[in-house]
Amino acid sequence: MNTRECIATKLDIREFSSDEVSTNSIKEILESARKTGSGLNTQHWRFILVREKDNLKKLSDSSTSGQWIIGANFAIIILTDPKYSFHLLDAGRLIQNMQLSAWDEGIGSGIYTGVIPDQMRKHFNLPSNLNISAVLGFGYPKNRIKGNTKNRKSIEDISSIESYGRSIKEIL
Ligand SMILES: Cc1cc2nc3c(=O)[nH]c(=O)nc-3n(C[C@H](O)[C@H](O)[C@H](O)COP(=O)(O)O)c2cc1C
Repeated sequence: MNTRECIATKLDIREFSSDEVSTNSIKEILESARKTGSGLNTQHWRFILVREKDNLKKLSDSSTSGQWIIGANFAIIILTDPKYSFHLLDAGRLIQNMQLSAWDEGIGSGIYTGVIPDQMRKHFNLPSNLNISAVLGFGYPKNRIKGNTKNRKSIEDISSIESYGRSIKEIL
């Protein structure tokens, strides 16, 4: 799949089949995170791979908007260092790289940010200086994805040309 096709077809997946994702694929997804560029090349991010069912249940129990994680084949907790003003921008970049990298080989993924931090910190031994920026769940999609079902605004709705509010329609 080329990059544009990958971006155009990728959806957030929250229902997964019981098929196992290989350790090699997991390594490749982590590799895609590792290779992402960060502000000042600080690489302040840290990742925790969660594969055991009991721990996926703990993640689900300590989430306010990602209880579906219990059905994922594995999860990755993303920690970033809030002492850098750009830490969430870095998180977004690496998350997208991981999700696209997975999608490229047919592995679906979803993200959630709603967590109960104290519960998560305790259970996963998370250092207090790092921010819990997101949790990603991965697995083969339960349902076949057909067509482009993205619900998005048009380019015209979200873009201007030369100055804010000037219609970009002329080049579309
Ligand atoms: C910053 C961010 C936070 C998100 N938080 C959650 C969340 O807490 N729970 C959830 O199920 N999905 C969450 N999502 C997923 C979005 O709902 C999803 O990306 C959006 O609906 C578009 O999905 P689609 O690409 O499948 O159309 C989050 C996405 C982003 C980028």
